[in-house]
Amino acid sequence: MLECSIGSLAAVSSFFFFFFFFFSLLKFGVWNQASMEAMRTTSLARPLSWKDSISSFLHSDYDTTMQLQRGKSGPGLCAVAPSGFGFVGLKGNSRSNQLCPISRPIKRFPQCCIRSALTSHYYLGPRRPTSARAIAGKSAPSKLSDDSGENRIQARAKRLQDAVGPNKTLLDAQARVCTGPTQTRPLDEAQAYKVLNTVLQSGRGELPDSEKVSKAQLGAFFGAMTLRANCFPPPTRWSDGERKAMSELWPALSKCLPEEVLFLADPEGSIMGEPSDVGPNFSGKSPPDVQLVSALRRVMGGGHLEQEELANLLRGVLPLQGPKGEVSDALLAAFMICSRMNGETEGELNAYCMAFDDELDSLPVAKVKSLTHYGEPYDGNTRFFRSSLFVAAVRASYGETCLLHGVDWMPPKGGVTEEQMLKYMGANTSLTLKEAVKLLEDKGVGFAYISQREARPSLHSLVDLREHIKKRPPIATTEKVQRYIKEF
Ligand SMILES: *[C@@H]1O[C@H](CO)[C@@H](O)[C@H](O)[C@H]1NC(C)=O
Ligand SMILES: *[C@@H]1O[C@H](CO)[C@@H](O)[C@H](O)[C@H]1NC(C)=O
Ligand SMILES: *[C@@H]1O[C@H](CO)[C@@H](O)[C@H](O)[C@H]1NC(C)=O
Repeated sequence: MLECSIGSLAAVSSFFFFFFFFFSLLKFGVWNQASMEAMRTTSLARPLSWKDSISSFLHSDYDTTMQLQRGKSGPGLCAVAPSGFGFVGLKGNSRSNQLCPISRPIKRFPQCCIRSALTSHYYLGPRRPTSARAIAGKSAPSKLSDDSGENRIQARAKRLQDAVGPNKTLLDAQARVCTGPTQTRPLDEAQAYKVLNTVLQSGRGELPDSEKVSKAQLGAFFGAMTLRANCFPPPTRWSDGERKAMSELWPALSKCLPEEVLFLADPEGSIMGEPSDVGPNFSGKSPPDVQLVSALRRVMGGGHLEQEELANLLRGVLPLQGPKGEVSDALLAAFMICSRMNGETEGELNAYCMAFDDELDSLPVAKVKSLTHYGEPYDGNTRFFRSSLFVAAVRASYGETCLLHGVDWMPPKGGVTEEQMLKYMGANTSLTLKEAVKLLEDKGVGFAYISQREARPSLHSLVDLREHIKKRPPIATTEKVQRYIKEF
């Protein structure tokens, strides 16, 4: 699956990065086989046949295949090109977190890479994430899938208060209005009516569960509308169409929406034109909701929280516990997206980054001379070759200790992640921090992967909510720079 278009800057630069290491290998003929062998025999990347493939590639007449596959048991994933370098292309089934081989192996790998750097890029993943329901309910497991994927997805769906939605109509509207003061694209009249009618139908129970809008969606949408009405500049404030649709439909909406959504839609009773006590009197039902409501009153007015204040709030609210969790999806979704729309202060970014550093224990320390954290965007990518796993492994083989971190699947992009690739190769992607420290300190390995699931369960509990928020919340920025392990 070669996609012939001009690669993004990121794609191109990742290729140059890749090439730098690749050619430094060729040039010096150095391949630390001991290290790769050690990696191969640890639980981390057992079936990665680096030794057999890369070294023979480097030292023979290229008549070999780089096997990124589960030993010999997998289906025939890669073809041995007679005089080229076969490469297994992998594509992701985004929501079932399964990688499967693309049908046509790319032959003559180096050539393909060069072309990619100049004119096109290598497509490594699905173009569009499939909808939640398609995966939870209908997706056929790929040949390589196992039961754990299915179970995991069902477990995830339960974490939100109402296991409905997200409804695409509202999700599309969120994509337009739940963003910054310059990027927001107000809805026109027809779109506004369509969206509000969807909310109304859902609120009145006229839609089947599978089409309903979720509370998290309602929270994100109405929170964003309030922030826009309160403090966005005129071009991104409510459009005439939005105002018209809202004033016509609000009387009906206000009769069927949950109380916390009424609060979000009009916290001071000043936006909808109808005087109402609900917003001003609302204080939240559970202790975390009370914290969220008072924070939201500031954030939806364009305000900010102090670092400690926000860290305390996050610790009070997370992790989300399950269907009986006390935290309102709507309030939390509104808080997440409104703090992003406001632009985070440095203190807020610090809080998102560090609030859970001590969640499991104090940060573990690895006795290594340097430690590079590789935190790619957690939502993966769907358009170009991902080289960081390879690059990190190569650097580790030169004695530069590398820690990769990420998740298996993350919205909004739902792209291919390092965790999916490692899992596909048979690695154990559920290492604890302590086990990772051991691998990093091991001179023959110097490389480990940590999943946010193991390292920061609280932040990981937000994955489902984030799908319903649609746009990236502040955590999407800070998780990439998480420090899971300190160096000595
Ligand atoms: C969203 O709601 C509308 C009703 O306005 C419905 O027609 C549509 O099928 C829903 N979409 C999804 C993906 O559930
Ligand atoms: C809201 O608060 C005011 C003043 O505290 C009170 O008079 C009013 O009855 C309250 N309204 C509702 C709906 O609880
Ligand atoms: C992966 O490592 C974790 C943590 O040590 C362990 O609990 C789990 O059983 C391992 N999984 C496999 C498949 O080996």
